[in-house]
Amino acid sequence: MPEPTVTMAGSPTDPPTVRCATADATRALARALGAELVGGDVVVLTGPLGAGKTTFVQGLALGLGVTAPVTSPTFVLARHQRPDAAGPRPDGPNLVHVDAYRLAGALELDDLDLDSDLDRSVVVVEWGEGLAERLSPARLQVHLDREPAAAGGTAAAGGAAALAGADAEEASPGDEPRTVRVEPVGLEAARTARVLAAVRGVPGVREAQAC
Ligand SMILES: Nc1ncnc2c1ncn2[C@@H]1O[C@H](COP(=O)(O)OP(=O)(O)O)[C@@H](O)[C@H]1O
Ligand SMILES: [Mg+2]
Repeated sequence: MPEPTVTMAGSPTDPPTVRCATADATRALARALGAELVGGDVVVLTGPLGAGKTTFVQGLALGLGVTAPVTSPTFVLARHQRPDAAGPRPDGPNLVHVDAYRLAGALELDDLDLDSDLDRSVVVVEWGEGLAERLSPARLQVHLDREPAAAGGTAAAGGAAALAGADAEEASPGDEPRTVRVEPVGLEAARTARVLAAVRGVPGVREAQAC
């Protein structure tokens, strides 16, 4: 898997913003985070359509030892997957993957009856902002977005410059840089430190140059 080429601003305790040049880099980052997650954790994913939320969940699943394919659960609302018996975390938490895009609101989230599963599951909610927070006061908020430069007219030039170096060789057609902001909210200090260390420990992660 190609390494995420990432840039992070600020001190080690700030929520890092990671730059992932390719979809595989986004998966690699999420995989490292997923390996840190335990039952009861809630991950809220935000960002526009196509930003890479489902792609992120694919990596997260691998970190949980779930190898069943992860696709958008838009039409089933919530998908429950167990870790592989032969994988790295056979007794680890289940993955509950929710896409709240089509949920009308908190009431429908209640209908999913996630509460009974929470302790034994990592619940990941796409489009969960303002909705999934109530599942747990402690959660990981992850915001994915296209880079500002990629949205403008100079996207190609900006992207090419940004991809120069090792990542350029690994990029496939369709890959475009994304920024991924990882913000632990309400987690114990020790877990916050572990999560941030996991992000910073992904091969290829480096501190941002001052800009
Ligand atoms: N750096 C990147 N990170 C994540 N996805 C990327 C990246 N570059 C290109 N992509 C592509 O963008 C698309 C993101 O789709 P998806 O994960 O379904 O988005 P969302 O769930 O946010 O709507 C995928 O086709 C993925 O391959
Ligand atoms: Mg999606």
